[in-house]
Amino acid sequence: MTTTSTSTPTVLSTIAATRELVRAARAEGRRVALVPTMGALHEGHLALVARGRELADLVVVSIFVNPLQFGPNEDFERYPRTLDADLAALAGRADAVFAPSVAEMYPAGASQTTVHAGAVGERYEGAARPGHFDGMLTVVSKLFNIVQPDVALFGQKDAQQAFLVKQMVADLNLPLAIEAVPIVREADGLALSSRNRYLSQGERVLALTLSAALGDAEEESVRGVPAARAAGLARFDQQPDVRLDYLVIVDPATFLPLEDDATGDGLMLVAARVGATRLIDNAPIHF
Ligand code: PAF
Repeated sequence: MTTTSTSTPTVLSTIAATRELVRAARAEGRRVALVPTMGALHEGHLALVARGRELADLVVVSIFVNPLQFGPNEDFERYPRTLDADLAALAGRADAVFAPSVAEMYPAGASQTTVHAGAVGERYEGAARPGHFDGMLTVVSKLFNIVQPDVALFGQKDAQQAFLVKQMVADLNLPLAIEAVPIVREADGLALSSRNRYLSQGERVLALTLSAALGDAEEESVRGVPAARAAGLARFDQQPDVRLDYLVIVDPATFLPLEDDATGDGLMLVAARVGATRLIDNAPIHF
């Protein structure tokens, strides 16, 4: 696991060329890591790529804004597409970028066969964005089949996504390992997200409510689950310009809400709207 790219990654737009690149690498006994992204890369993505580099010899980053995981009133059209900047950011970090067109991924216009995320996929983000996780898992399983990586890296920032991908891999016996990489934050606590670029200066300040709520809850965790939840909610009560969607403390092993008298590991999830931008964040919390 010593190969280090020093130049711009090879850009592949077809499934056939990607398969060929991976086949050649495997023939040389190289391990393959996949970092699935929708582009608009930031330091959080680069942390996934760096972890992929530690775990494998060939690091493939996919960049594809997947229409299947956006609802009709969501930001598919305006989602940032910054391929040139993404390639520059990946220079010296990734070996190859798979950046297919929508027609390459969905030649029939959509996918007749889809992956269903199950009951947990209908909670939290899934309740706010019906069909989102089915679309996400469908494209992720296509990417796994195209690249056939030994390991795939996902950001812990999308904690429910990482949970559901791991569940799919276990349920369908997919032959790869999944690793969730810790959230990367700005110095003031804001979790990095491609959607942060939608925020005005004022909205960016308001967006700190999410990480502050997580911090407040953590401070109250010695008093138990209801006190921690109440502390997190209080932050949003003080900031009516931030519209809370959900705040929940789940069991990280099941993603079901923690009982009020629970002890042990929890994970607090929060989603809120700041202006037109929907943001999510999460943090572990121990009781
Ligand atoms: O997290 C994302 O950027 C997307 O949901 C993913 C995993 C690349 C699938 O489109």
